[in-house]
Amino acid sequence: MADSLNLSADEVLTTTRSVRKRLDFSRPVEKEVIEECLDIAVQAPSASNRQDWHFIFVTEPNTRAKLADIYRRGAEISYASRANEDLAFSEDKRRVRESSQYLIAHMAEAPVLFVPCIEGRTDNAPIANQASRWGTIVPAMWSFMLAARNRGLGTCLTTMHLNLEEEAADVLGIPYEEIMQVGLIPVAYTKGTDFKLAKRQPLETVLHWERW
Ligand SMILES: Cc1cc2nc3c(=O)[nH]c(=O)nc-3n(C[C@H](O)[C@H](O)[C@H](O)COP(=O)(O)O)c2cc1C
Repeated sequence: MADSLNLSADEVLTTTRSVRKRLDFSRPVEKEVIEECLDIAVQAPSASNRQDWHFIFVTEPNTRAKLADIYRRGAEISYASRANEDLAFSEDKRRVRESSQYLIAHMAEAPVLFVPCIEGRTDNAPIANQASRWGTIVPAMWSFMLAARNRGLGTCLTTMHLNLEEEAADVLGIPYEEIMQVGLIPVAYTKGTDFKLAKRQPLETVLHWERW
């Protein structure tokens, strides 16, 4: 069993941040702790309990470098498409962007890169099929990230490499026509284990009782 921080469920749920600058690239991550987190993750629900999910963990440095390069180029595509909307930068957005740039530069150094996958592509699929596919992998992926947090590991869900998903499928030998990648998640022990609640929109701006 990996060492646990013994956080309460509420603490895990409220302090699992997107960790980028505090990922400790110098400390190896044991296979056992990854498998322990995954054992917890697969307790998540899945559509019709099909459990048609797949979890790829990459530790080999050359493959990590290839994925990191795809992520960097995928991020360029995302940022180019958002050029106009980001003209007015708030302080919060500026901080996320700076942190995100750091991860782009250092993705290859994360000791483990995690690529969650789901069977069945949703390209042009009806909305119910999309919900079932994404809704099958996201709870398990998030459970993995929560279990990792309670063991002193940091993660950051990223999606920008999906701009070049087929290229990443080639690198990893994923049958692209049948299997959809969902993200690219660096996994590393964190520098310090104290993470805080994040600032969020006030509830009254998002909460609806009875109807919209
Ligand atoms: C669907 C999704 C996609 C995301 N994609 C990226 C990404 O490509 N790169 C990145 O650095 N962070 C990415 N993030 C992390 C968000 O930037 C982060 O969750 C947000 O800034 C709030 O910070 P927090 O998770 O620490 O509370 C993504 C998060 C989600 C939920």
